Amino acid sequence: MCIILLSVTLTSRAQNSVVVQSDQGRTIINRNIYGHFAEHLGRCIYDGFYVGDNKKIPNKEGVRLDIIEALKKLKVPVLRWPGGCFADTYHWMDGIGPKDKRPSMLNVWWGGTTEDNSFGTHDFLNMCEMLGAAPYLSGNVGSGTVQELSDWVKYVNHKAGSSPMPMLREKNGRKDPWNVKFWGIGNEAWGCGGNMKAEYYANIYRQYATFMSNWGNDEESKIFRIASGANSSDYNWTEVLMRDIPHNMLEGVALHHYAVIDWNKKSSATAFTEQEYFTTMKRAWQMEELVTRHSTIMDKYDPQKKVALLVDEWGGWYDVEPGTNGAFLYQQNTMRDAMIAGISLNIFNNHADRVRMANIAQTINVLQAVILTKEEKIILTPTYHVMEMYNVHQDATLLPLSIKTNDYKLGDEKLPAVSVSASVDKAGLMHISLVNIDSQKDQEVSIDLRGAKVNSVSGRILGSAKLQDHNSFENPDKIKPVAFKSAAINGSMLKVKLPAFSVVVLEVR
Ligand code: AHR
Repeated sequence: MCIILLSVTLTSRAQNSVVVQSDQGRTIINRNIYGHFAEHLGRCIYDGFYVGDNKKIPNKEGVRLDIIEALKKLKVPVLRWPGGCFADTYHWMDGIGPKDKRPSMLNVWWGGTTEDNSFGTHDFLNMCEMLGAAPYLSGNVGSGTVQELSDWVKYVNHKAGSSPMPMLREKNGRKDPWNVKFWGIGNEAWGCGGNMKAEYYANIYRQYATFMSNWGNDEESKIFRIASGANSSDYNWTEVLMRDIPHNMLEGVALHHYAVIDWNKKSSATAFTEQEYFTTMKRAWQMEELVTRHSTIMDKYDPQKKVALLVDEWGGWYDVEPGTNGAFLYQQNTMRDAMIAGISLNIFNNHADRVRMANIAQTINVLQAVILTKEEKIILTPTYHVMEMYNVHQDATLLPLSIKTNDYKLGDEKLPAVSVSASVDKAGLMHISLVNIDSQKDQEVSIDLRGAKVNSVSGRILGSAKLQDHNSFENPDKIKPVAFKSAAINGSMLKVKLPAFSVVVLEVR
């Protein structure tokens, strides 16, 4: 009896199956879904991107060249700066002109360190040019003024000689404007950005947005204004903004969601239990529900989907590394983070009709960083590798798909084990990104590529022996993508075997 039951259990364990509508793609995956976020926090800017006149580290105007090189491989499309919470304390005029004349300030949110303003507007925007990334400036609403933000727009965007702000820019060494498109109007206005109520913020937003000018009359020269968005499942926040802000002054609404186990009891970034891993995955999968429900609210007010949803802060948040400053949010990055990145990016791709930007928090040395630095050394984290593998989806056409997945179970709880998204690029290459979050079991996935003619399949996989594995300064290449050999073609069907906790990106010709 026992044997029969066992065999029934084994044979009834359904295979994961995916149906991709290969010839039904309509929506472009906005490259900005692969965006980043860099705040004046801990060692993200100073001792991260920017090393000033440190002669031991090759740099251009103080910006580390090894970092630029590594980020170029990610094709970073957009970079948000200077915060975060810091943005609502930042007065941009303190960060222009001769560095030795710039006033200092206290970084009140992040450890009370002295901010000497040596990395300011010119430094950031020139760095974006080096990276080939679009800048996204986050304006100070919490403690700034309408005039200040209006002047910042003019300073960076208006034609040389046209008014006092561009003249000041020229005096500071830059004649041509940078033409910055993306502008955040405050950050987390419900919290560190001013503890406002949604209705109050909606009014303030309208006031600020009114005085932010375009730099020309054509579509290309229009700024893209982003309202400070909801905290995870605060659906009322999105409802009020969509209802109270006229849509001709609102190009995007943000959303912040971190995969954190419990704000009062996070977990070690590396020494975590299976239960902690499971809970982190639950929080990461929550993004699917958040994006769906915030989008549904937006659909009610904007059925044509003109206003974008921007997840401009997302990622895993754990305890800081032992011995480091608690306010600097420096954490290691393991295969758990690779899982968060893989799931989240698939979710954003699959909602590309509304989600048109996402910014992982944060690029270097803070939270779910893609790069960690230690003096002259840098390491690329598992999250870096996922973002590099997935960059084939940037600007490609999303392919609609349906999925039946096994469960990843722990105790009485379960989560979908497999996450998928697919796209076809301008050259006709199809890419399918798959994640198996199950900590124990491999998953076989059959993929039906309806409407496609398949000649060959190749791919890369990111995996490791233990979930807690990570790259370190002693062993920087422990985790890196390698060729994936477990995919077979049968007509328009693919069969793929995903090892436990792995990320695979396939290229189908
Ligand atoms: O990314 C760290 C902080 O998290 C940001 O400054 C803030 O916006 C969020 O609460």
